Amino acid sequence: MSDQGPHRKLVFSGVQPSGDLHLGNYLGAIKNWVPMQDDMPCLFCVVDLHALTNWIDPKELTQRTREIAAAYIACGIDPKRSSIFAQSRVSVHAELTWIFNCVARIGWLNRMTQFKEKAGKNSEKASVGLYDYPVLMAADILAYRATHVPVGEDQKQHLELTRDIAQKFNNDYGVPDFFPLPEPLILGPTPRVMSLRDGKAKMSKTDPSDYSRINLADSDDEIAQKVRKARTDPEPLPDTLAALEERPEADNLVGIYAALAGEPKETVLARFAGEPFSTFKPRLADLTVAVMGPIRARMEALLDDKAELDRILDAGAGKAAAIADPLMREVRRVVGLLG
Ligand code: AMP
Ligand code: TRP
Repeated sequence: MSDQGPHRKLVFSGVQPSGDLHLGNYLGAIKNWVPMQDDMPCLFCVVDLHALTNWIDPKELTQRTREIAAAYIACGIDPKRSSIFAQSRVSVHAELTWIFNCVARIGWLNRMTQFKEKAGKNSEKASVGLYDYPVLMAADILAYRATHVPVGEDQKQHLELTRDIAQKFNNDYGVPDFFPLPEPLILGPTPRVMSLRDGKAKMSKTDPSDYSRINLADSDDEIAQKVRKARTDPEPLPDTLAALEERPEADNLVGIYAALAGEPKETVLARFAGEPFSTFKPRLADLTVAVMGPIRARMEALLDDKAELDRILDAGAGKAAAIADPLMREVRRVVGLLG
């Protein structure tokens, strides 16, 4: 039997409404979701409960949840075919997390590198929620028996934990194949988009420097300026991938170009090898503006009609609950909470 057992193919993924969406979220995750809608049912969640793990202003959380939903649609997620919804609106996420808290082992969570990065030196002061974050993520995925989870590379370890939880639940309760072991899909030329200021740090919502990232909400001028100021080395672009890999900043910019153009990095190198960054950067800026400008415009238009966005989120939550509620009843039965 495959990892997915007898389960039908289903995609689940999510983004936290905890800051401005950036090019890393788009190229590492959301862009890769779009074509999957043709292949299998898809659920795309705004993981607002995850956003509570670090304090966030309540008004900001509400606003950002709508923004992420608008971004999904602006990037090409079709709310008629896929469910777009807020995590907190389907209570099974929280309920299943508790069951999984009793399946997951403390030793497993202690190995999570993202917790260590996010909690920093003062982990005693981090919220219990931040520590438990990957268990909630496992519940997100398994509440729908999702088989495919398209994410950026930074989520790989969390997906492994999800598989461990699914496996242990299936074993401990003697229900083989109850949960599928979901497959991480880490796709595209840029599974890890790096900061524009530091080729060794990932582009992130929480970097204090706005010049480190291109936000989905940035104007054309801001995009062009950030690309112009991106850190590079003084050498012209190389002609092989091997030479590129030794130059993190150059590699990042070529990767971004490749992902935006929808072509492999080799093709980009074949076109620009030997050129200095002073000619490559304006071309990259133009391409970024050409791709991201229309997304920003669609996002702004969608955010003008909050009532329509709320209707989409309501409908998405209804479709999601129609899958998760019956699953939760089965889980209650399996663990003995229901006779
Ligand atoms: P987050 O912003 O942490 O909620 O991430 C949402 C999605 O974007 C996840 O699938 C991440 O793996 C992905 N992601 C976030 N930052 C990056 C990045 N710098 N490069 C590639 N993917 C990313
Ligand atoms: N942890 C993910 C991130 O920060 C967001 C997320 C939460 C997620 N639940 C998920 C992604 C389930 C995929 C599937 O990037």
